[in-house]
Amino acid sequence: MRHPLIVAPSILSADFAKLGEEVRALDAAGADWIHVDVMDGHFVPNISIGPGVVKALRPLTKKVFDVHLMIAPCDPYLEAFAEAGADIITIHVEAGPHVHRSLQAIRALGKKAGVALNPGTPESAVEPLLDLVDLILVMSVNPGFGGQTFIPLAVEKISRLRGLVGARAIDVEVDGGITAEIAPLVAHAGANVLVAGSAVLKGGGNYRANIAAIRNAAALARGEAA
Ligand code: DX5
Ligand code: ZN
Repeated sequence: MRHPLIVAPSILSADFAKLGEEVRALDAAGADWIHVDVMDGHFVPNISIGPGVVKALRPLTKKVFDVHLMIAPCDPYLEAFAEAGADIITIHVEAGPHVHRSLQAIRALGKKAGVALNPGTPESAVEPLLDLVDLILVMSVNPGFGGQTFIPLAVEKISRLRGLVGARAIDVEVDGGITAEIAPLVAHAGANVLVAGSAVLKGGGNYRANIAAIRNAAALARGEAA
């Protein structure tokens, strides 16, 4: 089946002093989803935002909140992010010994469940989880910071994952270093959700043009009219 192309700007690259305005601007600029990076200073070497911020942003847009948890443990916080208004909650397969249970917990909260893979983790790690997930996130940088350079091995990993996923209704998302130049490579390999932080938001430029550049480049690679 063909999964729709989704561009998901990451608010990690937003101006945190005016985060609400930034989310409204991304909504108006044509973002499909809003990607929210949650970091704990433990699983990854940076600290970002928590459920209180997600809750404060929720009334500002109807767009899907795609919440990427880079935290360990994640179980104690799943309910808080669900209540804050996350639509998709993605946890890392490396974040704990009971990822299967955590994914069940996310679905029990009525949310879509995602599982993320670090660059050093093989796609086989998600094979036992395929019936529990709505989304697989392939990290194409080591998580923790925006503005890093795309790691090319993600392209082959995405292709192999699409093979594993088969006909299942699972989105394959790629996150890290995505630009309009990289977008065709990952879209052609089978990623249908493209996260982009700095390529959309850096320098407070033209968000609409930046999103459109990524979308059009990916659409062309999918054989779709841009
Ligand atoms: C990295 C985050 C990414 C990051 C992407 O740990 O998961 O979502 O914000 O930023 P760019 O697009 O700048 O690599
Ligand atoms: Zn992310």
